[in-house]
Amino acid sequence: MIPLLHQSLYYWYSQNGRHTLPWRTTNNPYHIYVSEIMLQQTQVKTVLERFYFPFLERFPTLSDLANADVDDVLKKWEGLGYYTRARNLHAAAQQCNGILPTNANDLIKLPGIGQSTAHAISAFAYRESLPILDANVKRILHRYFAVRERNEKKLWGYAYTLFDPNSPFEYNQAMMDIGATICTPKKPLCACCPFEKWCQGKTSPLDYPMAKVTTQKPIRIRNILVYQKGESYALIQRRTQFLSGLWGFYESEELPDESLKFLGEITQHYSHFTLQADVYLIEEERLPEGFEWFSTEEITKLSLGRADHKVIAQIVQDQKKYHR
Ligand code: ADE
Repeated sequence: MIPLLHQSLYYWYSQNGRHTLPWRTTNNPYHIYVSEIMLQQTQVKTVLERFYFPFLERFPTLSDLANADVDDVLKKWEGLGYYTRARNLHAAAQQCNGILPTNANDLIKLPGIGQSTAHAISAFAYRESLPILDANVKRILHRYFAVRERNEKKLWGYAYTLFDPNSPFEYNQAMMDIGATICTPKKPLCACCPFEKWCQGKTSPLDYPMAKVTTQKPIRIRNILVYQKGESYALIQRRTQFLSGLWGFYESEELPDESLKFLGEITQHYSHFTLQADVYLIEEERLPEGFEWFSTEEITKLSLGRADHKVIAQIVQDQKKYHR
């Protein structure tokens, strides 16, 4: 017999679930894998409208992905952010020789796949009986069991307690939808929740989990120097952990003595800091070390970070002014 709690969840899901999401209507493990990686740090709407289909069109199979140049993978990822995901996806594809592992235990060995993602892929692609524990499910569990303390290990225990081992696909998809549409961070709709009868946190859901100690994001102040030689501009492929693999302009804390033309300011919010930069054009024959010259046409084929896209917009605007 199905416990009432799960009956209530499945009835809610049958009426309100997002059943037509393309990664829910496919059995292709690779498609499900790509969707789960994209959805790790990006909203459903963005993934659905701009990234999921173009990516699969360009890399239709795991082997196509493995055989692709990592720069092409990054180019398709451009705008989605958290580029380590793209590099891990590519590295994982190369590791698995065209065949994705068929259980969570082996999936978790691939770069970029943590426990919850391994469970999600395996539950959705192979119906392996495992619960997920992403940020949305964590919030549901904190409230359902009235747990204020943020403790990942204990939360896994609760995830297994509430889980329905007989319906891993439906249970996990339904939990994701409850987390996204009912048990939301700020204004949970407890009156519409299928768990309302049993939820121990429903009288004060916002108390669960306890608030994070928030620290102000640091502001990074920089100068961006656009080296120009004729119609070409100097860019470097970043090898730092942050934005690794993406191309960008010269950044520095100091300004050189050479004559510079001020193009404008840019502000870019990243997850861990905010970049505030003054952008200058510098006409210079010599390339800074590690940089390469590119025409504006060639630049459109590179993967750039968001700040560098804003710089391109300023260059184009400046060119228009100049040619008027
Ligand atoms: N976020 C992560 N996985 C998801 C899924 N399968 N459906 C909706 N949102 C998700």
